[in-house]
Amino acid sequence: MCGIFGYVGNRKAGKILLEGLKRLEYRGYDSMGIAVIENDELRVIKDVGKIDEINKKLHLENVGGRIGISHTRWATHGGVTRINAHPHVSCDESIAVVHNGIIENYQQLKKELSEKGHAFKSQTDTEIIPHMLEEFYKKTKDPLKAVLETVKKLKGSFAFLVLFKDYPDRILVARYKSPLVIGVGDGEAFVASDVPAFLKYTNKVIFLDEMEVAVVKRDGVEVYDGISGKRKEKEVVEVDWNLEQAEKAGYPHFMIKEIMEQKESLLRVLGQDENIMKAVEMLKHANKIFVVAAGTSYHAGLVARYWFVKLAGVDLNVIVASEFPHFKNLVDKNSVVIAISQSGETADVLEAVRESKKRDAKVIAVVNVMGSTLMRLADLSLLINAGPEICVVATKSYTSQLSLLGLLAHAFVGKLEEGKEKLKEMQKKVKEFLENENNLKLAEDLAENLKDKQHIFLIGRELSYVTALEGALKIKEVSYIHAEGFAGGELKHGTLALIEDGIPCIAISPLDKTRDEILSNAMEIKARGGKIIGISEENNEVFDEFIKVPKLNGNVFHPIMMIIPIQLVSYYLAVKRGYDPDKPRNLAKSVTVK
Ligand code: F6R
Repeated sequence: MCGIFGYVGNRKAGKILLEGLKRLEYRGYDSMGIAVIENDELRVIKDVGKIDEINKKLHLENVGGRIGISHTRWATHGGVTRINAHPHVSCDESIAVVHNGIIENYQQLKKELSEKGHAFKSQTDTEIIPHMLEEFYKKTKDPLKAVLETVKKLKGSFAFLVLFKDYPDRILVARYKSPLVIGVGDGEAFVASDVPAFLKYTNKVIFLDEMEVAVVKRDGVEVYDGISGKRKEKEVVEVDWNLEQAEKAGYPHFMIKEIMEQKESLLRVLGQDENIMKAVEMLKHANKIFVVAAGTSYHAGLVARYWFVKLAGVDLNVIVASEFPHFKNLVDKNSVVIAISQSGETADVLEAVRESKKRDAKVIAVVNVMGSTLMRLADLSLLINAGPEICVVATKSYTSQLSLLGLLAHAFVGKLEEGKEKLKEMQKKVKEFLENENNLKLAEDLAENLKDKQHIFLIGRELSYVTALEGALKIKEVSYIHAEGFAGGELKHGTLALIEDGIPCIAISPLDKTRDEILSNAMEIKARGGKIIGISEENNEVFDEFIKVPKLNGNVFHPIMMIIPIQLVSYYLAVKRGYDPDKPRNLAKSVTVK
């Protein structure tokens, strides 16, 4: 849940570290810190707050040195304090560490190290790492050996970077179950939690695998197996993301930029027929098909379930990743597990995948981030190619997941080409909708009317039921207004009791067979004083307010179109309520802890 970034080269470290951290801020933003080696001194600067605020106070961009490591924190162990912020240092302050992940056996290790005389300052699990490195470094006088010995002792998950004051030419890094990538530049190198953090400087990447340790210098990277200590050859991969995708490009926030990008991003799932057909083969041979995912990606899985039932009469067992342990006994060697994840780093999803692999099931990843842990674990990966999604809130990745899963469902029944045509048609509708400024204005006006409400309900049936669930999640996470999505028919089994004068309810109502029933459900709400906001191709007297989407002609990809007005309303709600939509409170983009 934290972001880490390291640099070694000829540029001024403070500025580069700050820039890298800014790009990783979506991963955590309660405190931050940097460590550099300048004039043979190890200098640590850290504080509580957002990066810009801290920079204003401490002028980090002016910090010198040509090597440094840095961290933006999302607290897990220990409160949000300056002392708990990273980097953490050894007793003699010659070793500095930034870490993402959780060291599960830290209490035991802390006890052992304390008995050896190490003094701890913070409440974090991380602080044991520099102290343990100090122990091993004293014995071996070799920074690599110290790291190799240390990783053997750690249980849990980690991606960490180390600066040794005695070795101002290198960053030592290690990873296990937490993301870490190395950027190889010309006479410089970068280490970060994700690729966009250093994309401005290089797109040449070394993806570290589990339990690998690396020595990163400006003129080369050496990778070692963390268990055997043996040197490994690693491929340098060129990633075809560009910097523009990782910048705001004139938009005030990434969220609106990424919503608008859906005009084009949807079609970037095309061009992988071969892999889609491989996935179909795997699914056809499966006795049971599971889908595991969390949050928005879970909603994509739910839509896929409706599609598979609708098109193929085949059910998918869609399980929230954190609940998967209670279903794992059902998975066997004849099962296929589809793991959906934008980041490919969500801890619960990875855990479910590892468990499934232990049971010899086959795993298909539907993933955005190339080189992510999920992609490396899966038997087959289908890339959604949405491009970097920087805003914490998932928007374009959701519609790209739907695009890909929709194609998969069509391919499963031998209709991949038909699926592609329908997707292309839907992309045109999305483009038409987003290019019409009136629609943005309408969403903004609606947000103005909703911004002081305490509750918002959303209803839909069949595929639109899932749109209601996803819409509610969007509203909650950026605007902090309580929102709940329901299957239209379910509301009267309890929640209708909450409807009173003026309570807004968004009715998602495409012109399909669910139309009449959802309008009746809307009537029931209206009769109790609720205000109905229709999202539909056609107005209706039950709607008090109405967002018109283009005619969808019964296209089953409609969940892609129908979520977009709600994404927009959510965005404007956040802005009007004075919140930063890119960084909702308490949330992090990749939930790399369980
Ligand atoms: C919602 C959101 C989260 C993620 C969830 C899974 O807007 O961003 O609910 O969808 O944390 O993340 P991934 O897809 O990276 O596994």
